[in-house]
Amino acid sequence: MNSDERLVGADADTEDQAVEAALRPKELGEFIGQHRVREQLDLVLRAARARGGTADHVLLSGAPGLGKTTLSMIIAAEMGAPIRITSGPAIQHAGDLAAILSSLQEGEVLFLDEIHRMSRPAEEMLYMAMEDFRVDVIVGKGPGATAIPLELPPFTLVGATTRAGLLPPPLRDRFGFTGHMDFYEPAELELVVHRSAQLLDVRTDPEGAVEIAGRSRGTPRIANRLLRRVRDYAQVKADGVITREIASAALEVYEVDERGLDRLDRAVLRSLLKLFGGGPVGLSTLAVAVGEERETVEEVAEPFLVREGLLARTPRGRVATPAAWAHLGLTPPPQPHPSTPGGSGQPGLFGA
Ligand SMILES: Nc1ncnc2c1ncn2[C@@H]1O[C@H](COP(=O)(O)OP(=O)(O)OP(=O)(O)O)[C@@H](O)[C@H]1O
Ligand SMILES: [Mg+2]
Repeated sequence: MNSDERLVGADADTEDQAVEAALRPKELGEFIGQHRVREQLDLVLRAARARGGTADHVLLSGAPGLGKTTLSMIIAAEMGAPIRITSGPAIQHAGDLAAILSSLQEGEVLFLDEIHRMSRPAEEMLYMAMEDFRVDVIVGKGPGATAIPLELPPFTLVGATTRAGLLPPPLRDRFGFTGHMDFYEPAELELVVHRSAQLLDVRTDPEGAVEIAGRSRGTPRIANRLLRRVRDYAQVKADGVITREIASAALEVYEVDERGLDRLDRAVLRSLLKLFGGGPVGLSTLAVAVGEERETVEEVAEPFLVREGLLARTPRGRVATPAAWAHLGLTPPPQPHPSTPGGSGQPGLFGA
């Protein structure tokens, strides 16, 4: 199973890509949550507008589906500037980047998604472009090669990354402003659900939105996706209105539980609890027990379980927390008695 097949996967699937354009907020005032980033960005953009200049380069970091692409488009819209969209993996050679940079208009926003995946030579070219609005274009090969300096119009680079830690410090330092996006609070996701429901022309009552928001793993993209699946259910099985009952019945069909865990997440937890008494157990053993690849358990299921405080990664292996037992409605085995080190808490074969 890869994350694209999951209803609660945070990466965009093909259906998401088709509807997301319609659901993206278009201006800063419409963007829900992320108060700190929004306030700071508002100042950066206002100041730039007041100076009649170009905004400083902006780095947006955060998990998939939290609104980095959306915010980059808002930056361009707020500056009244055109936006050019590309991504780290699309820029294999420094020449690719030079071609893009040299065709920018003054004030244009260059959105560089997955900026941590750019090639090294392109990255080095970007340093100079960001700092001095200049690139050296290398003409020719070998000893006869010469660098021709090329002036660039001032532009705003907006870089997005899910892995800010992978950015080399010289690149990170060249951004005038870094916005770190956090997971959303349930109340903010309720607003996202209401806003999207209105755009999709779906009637949702407040309790229905609460139900969807609570299962969306802090991520607007997932909230929008769950909303679409619940809408389907409401249309087929009821009168189209999303109530709490409809939302919870629909998400039960899709096996997304009250906390946003899906079948894989629960299978991992259940094995850990039922087969291994809550751990510690090694990742490979756990993966075999679940019938999944090691990487799937580690990269697809575990991050959310860890974030939710349901599972801990320890040097001795994976361990379930008390919250995990409670979530699956299971009772943890009795703790070892202090006077019987390593014991099970029960009188052993050789007496207590
Ligand atoms: N603050 C928000 N308010 C309302 N809707 C939002 C907000 N943030 C994100 N969304 C919605 O969530 C969806 C995903 O957002 P976006 O594509 O910007 O995420 P991303 O951070 O760029 O993800 P990725 O890392 O996968 O590129 C969009 O359809 C957008 O409508
Ligand atoms: Mg994006």
